Amino acid sequence: ADRLDGKHILVTAGPTHEPIDPVRYIANRSSGRQGFAIAEALSRLGARVTLVSGPVALATPAGVTRVDIETAQEMASAVATALPADAAVMVAAVGDWRAAPAAQKLKKGVTPPALQLTENPDILAVLAHSAQRPKLVIGFAAETEHVIAHATAKRTRKGADWILANDVSGDVMGGEANTIHLVTADGVERWERMPKVEVARRLAERIADALQQDTKA
Ligand code: C5P
Repeated sequence: ADRLDGKHILVTAGPTHEPIDPVRYIANRSSGRQGFAIAEALSRLGARVTLVSGPVALATPAGVTRVDIETAQEMASAVATALPADAAVMVAAVGDWRAAPAAQKLKKGVTPPALQLTENPDILAVLAHSAQRPKLVIGFAAETEHVIAHATAKRTRKGADWILANDVSGDVMGGEANTIHLVTADGVERWERMPKVEVARRLAERIADALQQDTKA
């Protein structure tokens, strides 16, 4: 049988769009590629995968159940709806803030409109501290400096089991390859620079190892 047969794994991917009026939004450069590759790799190992995705231009991997959302709040409810899960891999680049969107298109005037921003829920932290917490909760940390220190702090603060840290100061966002540091309770493991699909395969195998160990225990 496949290593992840009978397991349900939740994956978030892509950016969020936070509307400011009916035609405009705040977004980020996430392409969704790393998250989609992870969903595909997990499905290939036999997992039932729910992929909660922001707006991206990618095809749904074979066998994966995809739920499309736009905002962080929609992503948070889609994640809650998808539970229970054995593992969750939170790859989405969730918008940190949202605006209270204007009902009509904002018009140019004497002074530019001021946006009042509200912090979005931290979907990973909420999930990791919930009663329905999956056994294995994995997050990403896209950093432009102090990658390992920030990722290590993030793992504890958010209550994740593993954090995959990557340096996005170069061409990672939207690009083909990734350099990962895997931060766990045991320490930091540096992976060589490799294609995002290879990061996905390697992570899927590690998840299978962890969930298997868990079943044996
Ligand atoms: O704090 P930061 O955005 O760097 O954390 C990144 C990790 O947290 C990613 O795994 C991301 O998917 C997750 N996250 C989330 N909800 C947020 C912000 C980040 O799930 N509102």
